[in-house]
Amino acid sequence: MIKVLFVCLGNICRSPMADGVFQHKVNQAGLSKQIMVDSAGTGSWHVGDSAHKGTLAVLKKHHIPYDGRARQFVRRDLSDFDYILAMDSSNLTTIQQVMGGESDGDVRLFLSYAKAKGIVDRETVPDPYYDNRFDEVYDLVNKGCDALLAHIQEVHAL
Ligand code: 4NP
Repeated sequence: MIKVLFVCLGNICRSPMADGVFQHKVNQAGLSKQIMVDSAGTGSWHVGDSAHKGTLAVLKKHHIPYDGRARQFVRRDLSDFDYILAMDSSNLTTIQQVMGGESDGDVRLFLSYAKAKGIVDRETVPDPYYDNRFDEVYDLVNKGCDALLAHIQEVHAL
């Protein structure tokens, strides 16, 4: 089983969106037995909360179900997950601080795959919690998920 974890700050806006979108793509590709998807936040404020209404609305608009609850990123995630994808540089720095130089998996910015393929022109996902730009974030997340899935399929011959 290939395990993928999306990480943002609150785990209510960006990483749940990526979690829902990526799971949907995995299901559509018939890979749900091979790829497991989860999300977490570096902060603890929203632990146990459902996703932000803006994230739920944009997912619903694209016919993607999501019922995950927020949880905080923990040290164990570093050994549990093969791919740990941070939404922005601040989240990546926090993960690297928890790592202390150690991780079994691949830890990087979520959009780095899409950026490398020239599908997007930035490496970080802006936080819609402050400006409500959920549609723009969805567009980035969707492209990022396409590039990530293509990468995983290539590397693992799926
Ligand atoms: P997220 O957005 O990291 O994309 O889930 C945020 C959600 C909540 C807060 C900050 C960012 N907050 O400060 O509560």
